[in-house]
Amino acid sequence: MKEMIKYGKKILKTLNDSGYEAYFVGGFVRDEILNIESNDIDIATSAWPSQVESLFENTAATGKKYGTITVFMNDYAYEVTTFRFDKSYKNYRQPESVDFSKKLEDDLIRRDFTINALAKDIEGQTIDLFNGMEDIKQRQIKAIDDPNKRFKEDALRILRAIRFVGKLNFHIEKNTFDAMKKDSHLLSKIPTERIIKELDLILKQPYKEQIYHLFNDLHLGDVFSDLDRAIKKLNLTDYPISLEQFFALGLYPDKNLSPDEWRFSKSQMSRIETIKELMNILLKQRITSIHLYNYSKDLMLAANDLLVKFFDYEDQEDKIINLDRHLKIRSFKDLKITGHDILPLVKDEKNVGKIIETLIEDVLLGKVENRKEDLHSFASRLAEDLNEEN
Ligand code: CTP
Repeated sequence: MKEMIKYGKKILKTLNDSGYEAYFVGGFVRDEILNIESNDIDIATSAWPSQVESLFENTAATGKKYGTITVFMNDYAYEVTTFRFDKSYKNYRQPESVDFSKKLEDDLIRRDFTINALAKDIEGQTIDLFNGMEDIKQRQIKAIDDPNKRFKEDALRILRAIRFVGKLNFHIEKNTFDAMKKDSHLLSKIPTERIIKELDLILKQPYKEQIYHLFNDLHLGDVFSDLDRAIKKLNLTDYPISLEQFFALGLYPDKNLSPDEWRFSKSQMSRIETIKELMNILLKQRITSIHLYNYSKDLMLAANDLLVKFFDYEDQEDKIINLDRHLKIRSFKDLKITGHDILPLVKDEKNVGKIIETLIEDVLLGKVENRKEDLHSFASRLAEDLNEEN
């Protein structure tokens, strides 16, 4: 972190030496005051994006239209963004376009919360135009200016406020909270990929109980009906839960994710559906190594975790881990016999697949050893039966 700050200061100096204002801004300044490590440093400057590009050797125009140039220094990446004021907010989302400004104040006033609107210059002086330092002391999240306006500009900020509560264990200032409650329905207008990303971040924060309490207090289950059951179950608990478990718990037992509504990646979508399916399997069947062969251990543990925590169901974690540890094969490729070996034994080649399936199950259940000779004699007997049937 020290190194990252050192090179960040080098960027501020280069900009200052060329006559531009430049500051550390946003989450980094907030976290530094709170003694929390940041992963990245954002810089705001009066220099225009093309001027930033010309001052540094190694840059990428990552968001030039919005004023952001990424500057690389010694393996660190810094987002250097020109002071800007947001022009128009459409559909309660981020602005379509921005105007660049020469004044730091314009840039700070457009931000969401006072604790996120602090700037720090190269000398270490903090610029605090909205009482952010005091709010950090009071441990409160307070919108800048009119909270309703802030949330109408970008409703995702409602979820961001929850994230900061979960990260910092701050409370939400009353007017800000009232506006969050009033405006929470606007979240339905935000593209779900942004919601998914923010929910994922929220669920990774340490102060779970506070987060779940806010989900309930703000009636987010009314906005996201697929999550309503999960939100209710989480109330008054502090259990960690992954994003995929959160959705599986919301959908269980009879709802399905609509791909038109929730823009998950295909693999995420399938993991959510599988956790839900596995909850049913764990509830209704005695699990065997065949289940472990067919499903991933991690998803099975995720499903087991939900059943134990939210449905008071018997914990099967040890059993799952044990079955997985002793799994004899993990794929049909691990079988010591192939389709080619079986083909001469059958009259109808369609039966090769059937025999392999049976062999997989029998190996998994310990009915036959995974040795070529044993599998071959087992396959011959199976083939005889099938040949007779045909
Ligand atoms: N910001 C905002 N409204 C948003 C998103 C961001 O006003 N919807 C502003 C805030 O001032 C924020 C800054 O842009 O501090 C940078 O946002 P981001 O990179 O998302 O960082 P933070 O979320 O604040 O902090 P962290 O680095 O902990 O994620």
